[in-house]
Amino acid sequence: MTGVKEDTHIFLVGLMGSGKTTVGRQLAKRLERPFLDSDHEIEARTGVRVPTIFEIEGEAGFRRREAQVIAELTRQDTPVVLATGGGAVLDAENRRLLRENGWVVYLNVPPSLLWERTRHDRNRPLLQVEDPLARLEALYAARNPLYRESAHFVAEGGNFPPSALCQLLLKEFAKTCVLSM
Ligand code: S3P
Repeated sequence: MTGVKEDTHIFLVGLMGSGKTTVGRQLAKRLERPFLDSDHEIEARTGVRVPTIFEIEGEAGFRRREAQVIAELTRQDTPVVLATGGGAVLDAENRRLLRENGWVVYLNVPPSLLWERTRHDRNRPLLQVEDPLARLEALYAARNPLYRESAHFVAEGGNFPPSALCQLLLKEFAKTCVLSM
């Protein structure tokens, strides 16, 4: 991506429970643009929830659908805020599309906090295991470098209210726009 402008897309990446959807909605509202979520888009197109897609088509089938949705949603004509599924960065083409078509923010949150936030959630098939904390730690170790590789900005820590994080990202986005002018 060459130069960030006021109408540059904002793409959020990070693990499950990092706050992409919550913060993304707030950012979109403040910037008066549509909020999109790749998981919701996949669910709207298939008419079923994510766990059902995993059940029927396996993770590979879900990833194919995800790649198709990412390819479309990263190339909207009007500016959007897009929250991506936690595994979107596994695919090199997704990473390239995200990085080249928008300002990418990584919400970096430690696995212990992600576990606190997701422990009662039954809608994330990868966490329906005996030891979800260990799974989150393994996913963090594998994906943290990919999120960093994809991102233009990393919001570190994550243990603050979504409104504060939204404020921080708005400030950073405005700063990046000015610096790119
Ligand atoms: C996944 C994250 C989920 C969803 C699917 C797989 C992952 O999205 O795409 O369950 O591989 O980390 P969220 O990050 O929005 O929970």
